[in-house]
Amino acid sequence: MMLMMSMTMAAASSLGGIISSAASSSFSSSSRASIQCSMERQALFNRIAPVYDGLNDVLSLGQHRLWKRMSVTWSGAKKGDSVLDLCCGSGDLAFLLSHYVGLHGQVSALDFSSDQLSIASSRQELNWKACYDNIKWIEGDALDLPFPSSSFDAITMGYGLRNLVDRKKALQEIFRVLKPGSRASILDFNKSTSAIAKMFRVWMMDNVVVPVASTYGLADEYRYLRDSINDFLTGKELEELARGVGFNKAKHYELGGGLMGNLVVTK
Ligand SMILES: C[S@@+](CC[C@H](N)C(=O)[O-])C[C@H]1O[C@@H](n2cnc3c(N)ncnc32)[C@H](O)[C@@H]1O
Repeated sequence: MMLMMSMTMAAASSLGGIISSAASSSFSSSSRASIQCSMERQALFNRIAPVYDGLNDVLSLGQHRLWKRMSVTWSGAKKGDSVLDLCCGSGDLAFLLSHYVGLHGQVSALDFSSDQLSIASSRQELNWKACYDNIKWIEGDALDLPFPSSSFDAITMGYGLRNLVDRKKALQEIFRVLKPGSRASILDFNKSTSAIAKMFRVWMMDNVVVPVASTYGLADEYRYLRDSINDFLTGKELEELARGVGFNKAKHYELGGGLMGNLVVTK
């Protein structure tokens, strides 16, 4: 059951990787392709914003909340800290961080989808709590962060890294804006190297995920999901990439029966 929930949540969180392959194949220059990919992804996340949260809950049976909580804990965020949530979407991790840093802390939550941010902002008002006043929603690019170096005590990113057109650049930006000794916690798919896990994933896609997604009018997007997972990095590769960027420590943990993963990096 846990595997099934993990798989379906993975699906709910993977939309961005889908459009990219189609977009990049139609451009000859890699830089033009990157821009086009990014724009396509931005449009996609704006389009799915109204159904994104509901679909996450349905497909994961609510388990994504548990994984997000674990990921925020691993970031090491504490009272009074200034923290950053990248690719914040509708704000799940930012709201969790807000509790950790408290009234005297500050949460910056960044995304490039204005529709996702406006849902996040509505949730902030609808579910008002005093600590939520410490959250600032910022429309921006995770690959070109609008912050000075060494600004943050902790950083989180939930289901964002796989959707970015340049993962190395994303980690370089995280490294730059983190304070020395601080951590970033990055939750996403685990690209498992196990043949059984891979077979199970394919079965789940065809028999559960696509049929459920089709009820939201998203069947086409989810049909390409397998490729997006295959294009992601394994836990080992993520650790290597992070060390190459300069992080002192990089450790990848498996979650949800091995179908989710969380990379914890220390500057
Ligand atoms: C799968 S959603 C994850 C949302 C949220 N973190 C969660 O876990 O529910 C990925 C988010 O990444 C954002 N995103 C993708 N590429 C981005 C970029 N280059 N800069 C900023 N945000 C980006 C999308 O707009 C989308 O909201």
